[in-house]
Amino acid sequence: MEKIVVLTGAGISAENGLGTFRDEEGLWAQHRIEDVATPEGFAANPQLVHDFYNARRAQAVEASPNAAHQALARLEAEFSGEVLIVTQNVDNLHEAAGSKAVVHMHGALSGALCAACDHRWPAPLVMAPNDPCPACNQPATRPDIVWFGEMPYGMEAIWDQLRAADLFVAIGTSGNVYPAAAFVQDAARYGADTVELNLEPSATISDFADARFGKASDVVSAWVEEVLAQ
Ligand code: APR
Repeated sequence: MEKIVVLTGAGISAENGLGTFRDEEGLWAQHRIEDVATPEGFAANPQLVHDFYNARRAQAVEASPNAAHQALARLEAEFSGEVLIVTQNVDNLHEAAGSKAVVHMHGALSGALCAACDHRWPAPLVMAPNDPCPACNQPATRPDIVWFGEMPYGMEAIWDQLRAADLFVAIGTSGNVYPAAAFVQDAARYGADTVELNLEPSATISDFADARFGKASDVVSAWVEEVLAQ
């Protein structure tokens, strides 16, 4: 086996206390997506949107990687072939665990973006609507997060990787949001084996050849042990 592509979602960071979106107490039970995760919501109330991401950024910087993040970093370090993590998450726990090949397809809380000139820079802990862009000085700064209705980052490269994958693994994602929810079909179409590691069956469970259920910190660690022992 040469190439493993791993898709992660909020469930891998759930044990760090970083909210998931669609669980009982999830973030979408507390906020309306259209208010805090769309360009229209940002245009209507930039302060509300910055408050939402400032709170998640403060939580994320306090969190440290759990056993699942660490197991994936070990997999990358010890597996004979290539490991790529495509994450929907905007925290940096994969990098903090030591993973190097990580693509943040939905952006990252650590990034800031200028809505006027497209300049990107490291986000301060607290962002506000009138912060001037360091490049063009316009008060048009936003979190560098991909909102609903916007194109996720790195899609061409991700599709190339899925086509070349021998194994596709989805961890801690409910399979409700596209294009990520179709990655399992994209990979399987090109011959990849597929496994879901999740607390409970996702919406796309029927697309997976194999599945293990349980908390990520348990299930991912056990699965990595098995792969490295092969
Ligand atoms: N271990 C493993 N899986 C878990 C755990 C855990 N401890 N806790 C929850 N889960 C699973 C849930 O069962 C669910 O299937 O994680 C999944 C979380 O699903 P969502 O809350 O929908 O999060 P995610 O799939 O990452 O959402 C995708 O939607 O709102 C957008 O941009 C946002 O990136 C996000 C995208």
